Amino acid sequence: MKLVTVKVVRKTKNGLNGTIAVPGDKSISHRAIMLGGIANGKTVVKGFLPGDDCLSTISCLRQLGVNILQEGDYLEIDGKGIKHLREPASVLEVGNSGTTIRLLSGLLAGLPLYACLQGDSSIAIRPMNRIVEPLRLMGAKMDGRQDGKYTPLTINGRSLQAINYTMPVASAQVKSAILLAGLHAIGTTSVTELHVSRDHTERMLEAFGVTIHRSGKKVTITGKQSLTAITIDIPGDISSAAFFLVAGSIIPNSHITIQRVGINQTRTGIIDVLERMGASIKITGKEEQSFEPFADLEVKFAPLKATEIAGEMIPRLIDEIPIIALAATQAEGTTIIKDASELKVKETNRINTVAEELNRMGAHIETTGDGLIIHGKTPLKGAYVNSHGDHRIGMMLSIAGCLADGETVIENSEAIKVSYPTFFEILSKLQEINQTVIE
Ligand code: S3P
Repeated sequence: MKLVTVKVVRKTKNGLNGTIAVPGDKSISHRAIMLGGIANGKTVVKGFLPGDDCLSTISCLRQLGVNILQEGDYLEIDGKGIKHLREPASVLEVGNSGTTIRLLSGLLAGLPLYACLQGDSSIAIRPMNRIVEPLRLMGAKMDGRQDGKYTPLTINGRSLQAINYTMPVASAQVKSAILLAGLHAIGTTSVTELHVSRDHTERMLEAFGVTIHRSGKKVTITGKQSLTAITIDIPGDISSAAFFLVAGSIIPNSHITIQRVGINQTRTGIIDVLERMGASIKITGKEEQSFEPFADLEVKFAPLKATEIAGEMIPRLIDEIPIIALAATQAEGTTIIKDASELKVKETNRINTVAEELNRMGAHIETTGDGLIIHGKTPLKGAYVNSHGDHRIGMMLSIAGCLADGETVIENSEAIKVSYPTFFEILSKLQEINQTVIE
C-alpha cells in the first residue's frame, strides 16, 4: 500500500528572508553521471543533486558496471571508457526521471548489449517515440509498448550510423539522446532544433574533450570520440531557485539571496520574464571560469504586472511555468502563456494540474490547447490541494500556501524529493529567520 504524505503550509506574515543555496542542477547532475561513467579516468563531481531522479541515474550506471562513490553532493565516478559498460542483469529502473530514460537510451543504443528500461506510472504515459524514432533511423533496434511509443523500452544494441535530424519538438532530452548515440555512431550526426533548448550536454561533452560544432540551432558530432575524466562543479539549479525568486517577488516583506545559481542563457527565461513583469532581481558575483556560469540572485518583493510568454522563450523556462503561473495570479492584468503544449507531457499534464490546483485556491486560470490564460490579480485562500505526484506542482503549491490566507494542505508532497529533498527545511527557515545566513 502506498502511503500518502501531506504537508501543511501557513500564510507567511513577515515575508521570506535570508540567504540560501539551492541544490545542484538536476540536468547537469544527470549528465555528469552519464558522461563520467563513459569517460576514461576518475571524474569528481561537487554540488551533485542527491534527489530521487539523479539517484535513479546513479543506480542505472552502477547496473551498467560503473563504480560510483556518492557522499551527499560529492561523487567519484570510476570511468573506464564507453566500451566497458556491461549488459545489465536486470531492468534499469528510472523512477520518475524522463531525463534518465531518454538520455540513457541514446547512450546504450549503439553498444553491444541488451537493456530494458522502465519507470513509474508517470513515465509509463510519457512519449518515448520522440527518441525511439530518430534512434531507429540511426539503425537502433528498440521497442516498447505501441511500437515504441511507451515504456518499458527494450534496446538490442548494435552499430549505429550517423543521421541529420530536424527535431519536431524543442527538447533537450531528444537532442541529447541523439548526440549521445552520435558519439558512438559511424560518421557525423547533426541535430537541428526548432528553438534552442538547454545546452548542458553540448557544454559538458566539450569539457570532457569531445569536439562538437554548433551553429545557430544545429549541433554536429562525429562518432568514435573518447572522453577524458574531469572535475565538475555543479551550480545551483535555477529551476529550484525559481520557487524562491517568485516567492520573494510576491510575498510582501520578502528579501532573499540565492547563492551560486546556474545562469546558463538557455535556462534564464525565468529571470527575463520576472523582470519584464516588474520583479526586483539583482544578479551579482558572476563566475564564468567553469563550462557553466554561476551567479548570486537577490530578490525583493515588488508589484508585478501581466505579460505574454510564447515561442523561443518557452524552452528557456519550460520547467518554471507552474511557478510563473502562480506569479501571474498576483500580477495586475491578464497573462497569456502559449506555444507550450509540451507541458502536457511533463511529469503531469501541467496545463491541467496548474489550473486545477491554483483555481482551488481562488485563482482565475483558463486552460488552452497550448497554454494558460491567467487573470490577475486574485487573492488566494488556503485549500486542500494535490501535487499529483509532480515535484514542481508540489513546490509551487507550497509557495502559494505561504501567500494564501489560512492553511494549505498539500497532498502527495513527497514528490518534491525528486528535485529538491531539502525544500521544506529551507522554506521554514526563510519563514522564521530575518536576514540570517542559512548554510
Ligand atoms: C531536461 C529537459 C527538459 C526539462 C526536463 C529536464 C533535461 O525536458 O523539462 O525537466 O535535463 O534535458 P525536454 O527536453 O523534454 O523539454
